[in-house]
Amino acid sequence: MAKSKKSKKRIDRSKRSSRRKSGNRNVVITKRAHKLSKNSKGGLPRESKAIRVALIGVGNVASAFVQMIYAGDVKGIWHERIGGYERTALKIVGAFDIDARKVGYDLSEAIFAEPNVTPRFSEVGQTGIVVQPGIANYEIPKHIAGAPVKSDDFGQLLKACQADVVLNLIPSGMHQTSYEYAVASLMAGCSYVNASPSSVATDMALVRKFEKAGLIIVGDDLLSQFGGTAFHKGILDFMNSRGVHIEKSYQLDVGGGSETLNTINEEIKLDKRDIKTGSISEEIPYKFETVAGTTDYVDYMGNNRTSYFWIQAKTLFDSDIKIDVYLRTNDGANAGNILLDVTRAISKAKSQKRYGSPQEICDYGFKKPSRPALLRKAHEEFFARYG
Ligand SMILES: NC(=O)c1ccc[n+]([C@@H]2O[C@H](COP(=O)([O-])OP(=O)(O)OC[C@H]3O[C@@H](n4cnc5c(N)ncnc54)[C@H](O)[C@@H]3O)[C@@H](O)[C@H]2O)c1
Repeated sequence: MAKSKKSKKRIDRSKRSSRRKSGNRNVVITKRAHKLSKNSKGGLPRESKAIRVALIGVGNVASAFVQMIYAGDVKGIWHERIGGYERTALKIVGAFDIDARKVGYDLSEAIFAEPNVTPRFSEVGQTGIVVQPGIANYEIPKHIAGAPVKSDDFGQLLKACQADVVLNLIPSGMHQTSYEYAVASLMAGCSYVNASPSSVATDMALVRKFEKAGLIIVGDDLLSQFGGTAFHKGILDFMNSRGVHIEKSYQLDVGGGSETLNTINEEIKLDKRDIKTGSISEEIPYKFETVAGTTDYVDYMGNNRTSYFWIQAKTLFDSDIKIDVYLRTNDGANAGNILLDVTRAISKAKSQKRYGSPQEICDYGFKKPSRPALLRKAHEEFFARYG
């Protein structure tokens, strides 16, 4: 349960700086990361350098991500080591939002503030990271309460974090803002992960700028570890590998997080539908009819999502194969492992001077990379390089 509003206190400037000075939990994490990395065996050489991460958008995905980073032991980490880095190499150094219920609060409180509905998977003590205001010059999502809290000079705030990697976790449909955050990251010398569906990492002019600056940009639209799109692609790939001819399929997603509420806006819904449908169509080497998208928002579902799948296929003598299944998942948790892997892969790629937008990271972690990507092949290529 989230703490009551009354118990939350905005942190004033003096407290902020004393918290920073008095040393926060990140220091402990870095030491632990170093100790753990000494003990690891096999795979790529161990990397002892911390990966400094800034979060833009302290919503449901950020909540699961922060809980994953700050937890002692975490069940369900997919890849213990990627690019030579363990989970404990990640250090959160900054967080930005524009919702007054989050800005000015310690990250440990902001991740559980309304309207976030990600469960409390793990206790997060005071982090010393105070959520700072972001860019609010363009699109403002309807679920932001009251006036957005806007920064006068976001670029300077980001620079001060000295982040290696910026994770863009703002809602769908905020194209101009996602672009501006990418430009600010470029100026601040940070690599950029675009988890949102806005076309940013597929903007080749921008990619070239990151490349020239010796930085990395990846995206667009995070592919959850075991969400509707990955599941749909996986079943179709299996059916195709068994020689079954796929005729039609659909996927209807229903969820309760603010991102789902935001996505049922007609324009955003169509954008998201195009991306999901495109990613699923690409999995099969011939044309078939398919539709995949977010259908509705049900507030009491919390951060859970149910995806309904229907598939029609033919086999010998044109006999029918029909599949009717549903999948239930938690959105935030479903994003955690992929963000963790992508962030670590970026650090490795950067150390190898593979600047720009490394294709194998985009293919592995995103629904809309710059070229069609097959699920299994993308995983193999990613793992061959970073596993
Ligand atoms: N598994 C997944 O949940 C998943 C999968 C694929 C893609 N994504 C993408 O990840 C992003 C985050 O998803 P979420 O569920 O956490 O969304 P969310 O709505 O829970 O959180 C978004 C956060 O961004 C903040 N925000 C809004 N405008 C902002 C601005 N201008 N500057 C800074 N912060 C701003 C909001 O206040 C909120 O805290 C979305 O774009 C979503 O499409 C998520």
